[in-house]
Amino acid sequence: MRFRPFLLMSIVVLSPLGAQDLIHPSFTFTASTLAPVLRSLPVSLRSAVQADPRAFLEDYKPLLTQPSDLLILVDKKNELPSDYEADDLVVLKAPAFNVNKTGMKFRKAYLTPLTNLVKALKKEGLNPVISSAYRSWAYQKDLFQNYVTRDGLATAERYSARPGRSQHQLGTVIDIGVLAPELADTDEGRWLAAHAAEFGFSMSFPDGQESLTGYVFEPWHFRYIGVEACTVQKKWFGDLQQRLVEFHNAQGATLRAGLKK
Ligand code: DAL
Ligand code: ZN
Repeated sequence: MRFRPFLLMSIVVLSPLGAQDLIHPSFTFTASTLAPVLRSLPVSLRSAVQADPRAFLEDYKPLLTQPSDLLILVDKKNELPSDYEADDLVVLKAPAFNVNKTGMKFRKAYLTPLTNLVKALKKEGLNPVISSAYRSWAYQKDLFQNYVTRDGLATAERYSARPGRSQHQLGTVIDIGVLAPELADTDEGRWLAAHAAEFGFSMSFPDGQESLTGYVFEPWHFRYIGVEACTVQKKWFGDLQQRLVEFHNAQGATLRAGLKK
């Protein structure tokens, strides 16, 4: 029989990925070693990753080398220590930032993306006010207590975090625009919802996700997680920051250990 190189080549190219084949050249994962990593994901998200695991790992790779504090899980079940405070907090000043009080702080390491976000808003003729940024554990304690006194515990808990449970303590969060759900129907709110991710900012508490995030819709509350993480959030996690950060907290170390040295 004559040797037919083209037939051989097409067999190699078309053969499906076997359980023992490496999914991505930068990782040691095979389909069978990646499977347990994906187990905690809801079925629909898991199926999408399993349909193209190489693309998933390619998109996820930058999240394994970026500063780990960007994806710390802070929610109703996961709290920060009372003395957690980033050591590079700087004051947001007017006129660069439209602040409604003096002394609001944000992490210097991520000030450039915040500056770029605000510049882009200004280019659109928009300049929404920033009304909150870093909040210490003690500040959050008083804030939460004031809301409880005003509205009762059950109501306050739906929109305000207990001390240690607020993302604001990270120093990577801003509240921007009017603090009302109607923000979503303004030019500012629409622009932020559509473009904040291009600057690495993710809306933490989207509409209709209280059972997942623990909080009612907050179209003004954005957390900086990085542009790549925003892309991963949108493409692989149903555009839900909570799902991405929960997954990263549970599986980030395993994925990082799978990176080839
Ligand atoms: N309003 C958000 C949930 C906070 O208090 O951090
Ligand atoms: Zn907020």
